[in-house]
Amino acid sequence: MKIVSVVGARPQFIKAAQVSREIRKHHKEIIVHTGQHYDPPMSGNFFDELKIPKPDFNLGVGPGTHAEQTGKMVVGVEKILMDEEPDLVLVYGDTNSTLAGGLAAVKVHVPIAHVEAGLRSFNNRMPEEINRILVDRMSQLLFCPTKTAVENLKKEGITEGVHLVGDVMYDAVLHNRELAMKSQMLEKLGLKEKEYLLVTVHRPSNTDKRENLEAIVDALISSGETIVLPVHPRTLKSLKKFKFHAKLDEAIKLIEPAGYLDFTCLAMNAKKILTDSGGVQKEAYFHGVPCITLREETEWVETVKDGWNVLVGANGDRILDAIRTFEPDGERGESYGDGKASEKMAKIIDDELA
Ligand code: UD1
Ligand code: UDP
Repeated sequence: MKIVSVVGARPQFIKAAQVSREIRKHHKEIIVHTGQHYDPPMSGNFFDELKIPKPDFNLGVGPGTHAEQTGKMVVGVEKILMDEEPDLVLVYGDTNSTLAGGLAAVKVHVPIAHVEAGLRSFNNRMPEEINRILVDRMSQLLFCPTKTAVENLKKEGITEGVHLVGDVMYDAVLHNRELAMKSQMLEKLGLKEKEYLLVTVHRPSNTDKRENLEAIVDALISSGETIVLPVHPRTLKSLKKFKFHAKLDEAIKLIEPAGYLDFTCLAMNAKKILTDSGGVQKEAYFHGVPCITLREETEWVETVKDGWNVLVGANGDRILDAIRTFEPDGERGESYGDGKASEKMAKIIDDELA
């Protein structure tokens, strides 16, 4: 059977690397890259490093307003679906590429499988929240990473086609952990194990609002800790625009977005991680590193419930306090599955398409 996978943003490449390997055992996969992310450290490098098959199509959409970006992607994906007539479209997560893949497929009556279904932040000002809700409504197969996700769908009346499979990013960590241990990132950056903080920031609520970005930057600087910040292009633009770049650069190791293995090495060895990323919150949990989340809510509630993640928003005092005092006070559970989510999804797809 023929499956079209639609990807476009960094975390989707990492997830697709796992799933692609499994579905290719029994099906023909066509990879459509929307071009949402396009710089090599945000895109192409992951294909090489994680040995993801080269995309069959690249729509080259690039940046734009939500409507511009999503609209161009829908047009591009629809044409491919009409030409290729696949049996299934596979979409990942909650980006505009996910929404576009879903919208294109539903209109030409191709069934949709959604990897990471059922996640909710209950914050409709997040573009991702709208994308998730709409894609879940459109999907025939809903692959949930957690019980919470299954419950969220149930509350919205979605029970058919829902499968609890575990978290595909946990699969990725288990698959790549040994290779990541060989990364030379610590030596390269002059860092010592458990003596630095790893920071990632890219949510519009943190990067586009001057006062929020300033509160984060100032808290990081005044912590006096060694800090490494692989900087997302959205954030780099804002740091430059608000002229924070120079003061940050003196106090903080600002590096370009890291490859997955190098980033995993940095994450595993960090004293604490500060992030507003969805994926990075979970990875901190998988690695057993305390996480300080620069948001007021999270979709990954298990990390907070188990005591390994604390929500501090973009509030300078709360960020500083957490850097100084936050210590996990519980055991990590098994909420994210057994590392075999990709295999399980592939098996369900096999049965569905048989
Ligand atoms: C997107 C997703 C977000 C996800 C994130 C992963 C949406 C609405 N947002 O956010 O859910 O967490 O990806 O990283 O889909 N840019 C570059 N080079 C690149 C990519 C982006 O310079 O390779 C710049 C562009 O100028 C763009 C900005 O970064 O304006 C933001 O990129 P965009 O893809 O719109 O959203 P992200 O913030 O990356
Ligand atoms: N990541 C990476 N290099 C970096 C920062 C993050 O490889 O410099 C990886 C990280 O390990 C995780 C994923 O990117 O697997 C998270 O993506 P991102 O934070 O961009 O998006 P989100 O998860 O918030 O949608």
